[in-house]
Amino acid sequence: MPEVIIVKNEAEAGEIYARAVADLIKSKPDAVLGLATGSSPLAAYQALAKTVKDEDIDMSRVRGFALDEYIGLPLSHPESYHSTIHRTVVEPLGMNPDLVHVPGDVLDGAPLEDGDKLAHAGADYDAAIEAAGGIDVQILGIGTDGHVGFNEPGSSLASGTRIKTLVEQTRVDNARFFDDDIDQVPTHCITQGIGTIMRARHLVLLAFGAGKAEAVAQTCEGGVSAFCPASALQMHPHATIIVDEAAASSLRHKEYYQYAYTHKPAWQGI
Ligand code: F6R
Repeated sequence: MPEVIIVKNEAEAGEIYARAVADLIKSKPDAVLGLATGSSPLAAYQALAKTVKDEDIDMSRVRGFALDEYIGLPLSHPESYHSTIHRTVVEPLGMNPDLVHVPGDVLDGAPLEDGDKLAHAGADYDAAIEAAGGIDVQILGIGTDGHVGFNEPGSSLASGTRIKTLVEQTRVDNARFFDDDIDQVPTHCITQGIGTIMRARHLVLLAFGAGKAEAVAQTCEGGVSAFCPASALQMHPHATIIVDEAAASSLRHKEYYQYAYTHKPAWQGI
């Protein structure tokens, strides 16, 4: 199962992610980062931006692939994941925008009915990731229902990037970005599949707050099931879950995870 690290707060989680990614980029200047939107990774991006500045790390060759995008939102929409990734990651980290890809980039707001554009977009995105040599570190958040990317419960654990239908709860959760109006939240998305995510060499999942506690417990200690897509991480050879106390509160082996991390030799990193 994934290594579980329990931290005080999002800032501490961010520092752990930033250290791992900064060291990666120093040894591999054209590293490939898997990027997520949402609130969970924000402190991690901020910590990485600070480390990049403090340690004068060259980001110009670092490449990026985002997890997902809404269908039907023009790239210029402030809540498109294209805009969000550029605002929260590309600009603060000083990445080359031409080297950062979001699955909807080629669609640019094309409607769901546009089969000519949509039918092959997922397979093309997976091929682009493979052509880049695969993702080195994929950052992930988790939905209250155990989704990762936009792989909702019931998603195939072997899936590639494809068009999916959002569940009502995810649209309710995300309405906060659309004037609290669920009717403005798109009904469909394009998302890296669980199979795509599992091919990344290192997965780092971040979860904070009591609302994520049940999903985190199912992910780490429940059975591997398409009904908790994040539980696929139990099958990954190098997955790290960083949670605060509230998100860790339903874990049965919480004390053991804390003990193991406290006694881990520093040379192992995460
Ligand atoms: C974002 C994504 C989603 C979010 C998840 C948690 O690109 O793919 O899986 O990571 O919905 O969202 P937050 O972090 O806002 O709680």
